[in-house]
Amino acid sequence: MMKLTDSPERYGLISRFLHWGMAILFAMQFASAAAHWALPRGSSLRETLWAYHVNLGVTLLLLVVLRGLWGLWNLRARPTEAGPMGKAAKAGHAALYALMAIVPSLKIIGAAGGTRGFSYLGFQIFPARETAIAWTKTISEWHGALGWSLAILVLGHIGAALVWHHLVKRDNVLKRMA
Ligand code: HEM
Ligand code: HEM
Repeated sequence: MMKLTDSPERYGLISRFLHWGMAILFAMQFASAAAHWALPRGSSLRETLWAYHVNLGVTLLLLVVLRGLWGLWNLRARPTEAGPMGKAAKAGHAALYALMAIVPSLKIIGAAGGTRGFSYLGFQIFPARETAIAWTKTISEWHGALGWSLAILVLGHIGAALVWHHLVKRDNVLKRMA
């Protein structure tokens, strides 16, 4: 029987579902960002991929909060690695969590202080303000650069899992999340 909670041997069903489900959603989010960056305004592919960026971005923030709480709940039972490589993996995962939370939050804070208001899935979250709050706009301008930093970190993470662990060391690190 597959366990719902994590154990030192492998991640449980809930952690694996959140990891792989969110990996697919992040791939879609980076596809929309790449289309926004690379394609000309008015391109139908750009419009199609961009249409979901805000709603998916907020959904990812809600999921990362849920996943972080589940991770903390399971912290003592999770697979760990000793030594400097284990410490590096922990730092890498912490950096992934930090950016997964900060990147969408910056834009939401920017929207809260902006003059256009903000809706999520059609529900109004922030009404339009008469005057913008300058600092919220300033910090929201870090969104794109930090979003691309997250993309690079994710590529490093995938390289570490697939190339280093699976192909070079041939250990069970990939299997415990698979
Ligand atoms: C984890 C979730 C998110 C990721 C990974 C992400 C990633 C990115 C990236 C990489 C860009 C740069 C695209 C370019 O260079 O043209 C971007 C742009 C943008 N994102 Fe997001 N985003 C996320 C969530 C959100 C949310 C929640 C909002 C709105 C509340 C949002 C609104 C925007 C807007 C308006 C832009 C275009 C302007 C700009 O670059 O600042 N994003 N996003
Ligand atoms: C093909 C894509 C991916 C592969 C092969 C992969 C592989 C793995 C593996 C094997 C682990 C377990 C590592 C360990 O136990 O030390 C893991 C954990 C983790 N991965 Fe990925 N991953 C992928 C995509 C992603 C993406 C897109 C993100 C985030 C944007 C991500 C974030 C994390 C985090 C934060 C952990 C730590 C455990 C947790 O709290 O869920 N991964 N990944």
